[in-house]
Amino acid sequence: MILTSEEHSMLAGDQGKAAQTAMQILTALGRIYGAQRMIPVRSVQIAGVSYDNLGEAGLEWLTEMAAGEGHVRVPTTLNPAGMDLENWRVLGIPADFAEKQYRVIDAFTRMGATPTCTCTPYLAGNLPAMGDTIAWAESSAVCYANSVIGARTNREGGPSALAAALTGRTPEYGMHREENRRPGVTVDVQTRLSDTADFGALGKIIGGRLEILGRKVLPWITGVDSASVEQLKSLCASAATYGGLAMFHIPGITPEAGSRPPSGNTITVGGADLLAAKQSLSDASAGEADFVSLGCPHLTLGEVARIAELLDGKQVAKEFWITTSRPVKRDSDRLGYTEIIERSGAKFAVDTCCVVAPIRGRFRAMATDSAKACYYAASKNRFKTRFLDFTAVVEEALVK
Ligand code: F3S
Repeated sequence: MILTSEEHSMLAGDQGKAAQTAMQILTALGRIYGAQRMIPVRSVQIAGVSYDNLGEAGLEWLTEMAAGEGHVRVPTTLNPAGMDLENWRVLGIPADFAEKQYRVIDAFTRMGATPTCTCTPYLAGNLPAMGDTIAWAESSAVCYANSVIGARTNREGGPSALAAALTGRTPEYGMHREENRRPGVTVDVQTRLSDTADFGALGKIIGGRLEILGRKVLPWITGVDSASVEQLKSLCASAATYGGLAMFHIPGITPEAGSRPPSGNTITVGGADLLAAKQSLSDASAGEADFVSLGCPHLTLGEVARIAELLDGKQVAKEFWITTSRPVKRDSDRLGYTEIIERSGAKFAVDTCCVVAPIRGRFRAMATDSAKACYYAASKNRFKTRFLDFTAVVEEALVK
């Protein structure tokens, strides 16, 4: 790789141990993927923040990087942590876990990262512009940034995202290159999509079909005339989970779609496909849920408002987590939604989520509108799943 004098200086250790380690990570990645040079990044989002995922080895590494004069050079936010950083006791998080989680956050903040822990950084102050080069790690946010915003990012791992933050650089390969952002297959949706759950199910179908065609083929999705931020984030989360997808195009909705279909195959998705995908996300033996969660990816303020409206004057009968970012929660506080929601017995789980919190085996069955959450509920937390639309999830929480 051709490096600038500044990059050579970091690699030589002239700018501290952490910058040196970071540049070593990035040059190794660049060599593996055939990058010719480094390019500057404008924004970073780091995953691997929950102590439940990091463990002791991860915490030690972060502590070493912070001690090695590591300091971020660009705006940097974090993925969800393993707990609500202000209200972890209410969620039943053990004190020894909380102590470790605070040490993780402390290491990141000593390096200058903003401790806004969310998988929707674009809703919480870390919003790149179209064409910006960024280094984000959370897979749903990566797909959203590439597809919906038109910013450019590979799916970084925790260490490579931190390395990008500490150097302000990333190797130029993959989604940073124009030729890898073009669609290669048409997905013709021949059924109406009406809720976040429908978009999540579509993401599962597309992800599954592209697994067969090869992950590098980007879909050009037709038959979707409109989509809200909430629906797009649901599609992103699911397509990234089930197909490793980093980008899709929807003509008329996403900025790089253009108007001409790709010359490759066409996949059709009909009503029966959508129904089958939705059914596959629920366990037949789940029965009634004992845990209910909305907010995978983290909720928008509009979704929080919708929950408040549905819960107003009612009492929940189940453990119900409402997961969102701290900035959205603050707006919810000001607008009175928090009071309505908490009066119902539902709990905000801010800075965290039902997947990265240490709740493995704590519940039997979870109800959610998130196809991504279903995947991890089963694989990580050993919960059975009930996949429902948004309103039905809230109703499930009310069933005694
Ligand atoms: Fe976000 Fe957790 Fe889902 S990080 S995308 S809410 S699994």
